[in-house]
Amino acid sequence: MSDKLYHECHEVISQGRAILEDLQQWGFESVMKLPDEEPVATVGQAQQGVLTPNTLAELEAGLSGCSLCSLSKQRKNIVFGAGNPQARLVLVGEAPGHEEDEKGYPFIGEAGKLLDKILLAMNLSREDVYICNVLKCHPPGNRDPQADEIAACEPFLKQQLALIQPELIVTLGRFAAQELLKTTKPIGKLRGQWHEYEGIPLMPTFHPAYLLRNPAGKRPVWEDMKQVMQRLSRN
Ligand code: URA
Repeated sequence: MSDKLYHECHEVISQGRAILEDLQQWGFESVMKLPDEEPVATVGQAQQGVLTPNTLAELEAGLSGCSLCSLSKQRKNIVFGAGNPQARLVLVGEAPGHEEDEKGYPFIGEAGKLLDKILLAMNLSREDVYICNVLKCHPPGNRDPQADEIAACEPFLKQQLALIQPELIVTLGRFAAQELLKTTKPIGKLRGQWHEYEGIPLMPTFHPAYLLRNPAGKRPVWEDMKQVMQRLSRN
């Protein structure tokens, strides 16, 4: 929903509420069971952490119409994330590609098909896990995310993780690992070892798109995923 439409809807709801309150004063008790006012999620509030959404759906609603960075100008859809809101495992990618932008759903292109195969080999499906990205909007031409875009989107990723509270996090590629671990170390140095994000064990591994270009990376990714499977079966 665009900001304009959002504000218009809010205006209509406020006017309706005022009319109902008026009627209530005239004694129309039966039509007057007014619900408690819902918190109105705005991107600004969500970004400042003023709004503390209780569910992923509330968080997603707060993100609608986001124009916190310039990616909003060209995106078709915000790709919030998808999967099990109670997932034990969250996978964090980089940013939606062209196909994800078209459909509003994460990892549905070639890299996503490879990710599905990795999950299948781990005996997991999309319904078991939650998948999201550092950026919720598609960078044109699949260019690298920029620092201001990552900073603008950071509160949403952090709130997603806070709401899901997974047992484990797997980051896919350099940007997700560096963002959550607040490091500039290269992915080759980070992958294959357990790190921690806010007390949650985090395993960085290569991005599936990298594996499409460098099939030799598949073996180390499988080693990383075996560590993840071991830890999931232990807990
Ligand atoms: N690459 C990503 O990092 N995320 C997607 O959703 C798709 C491709």
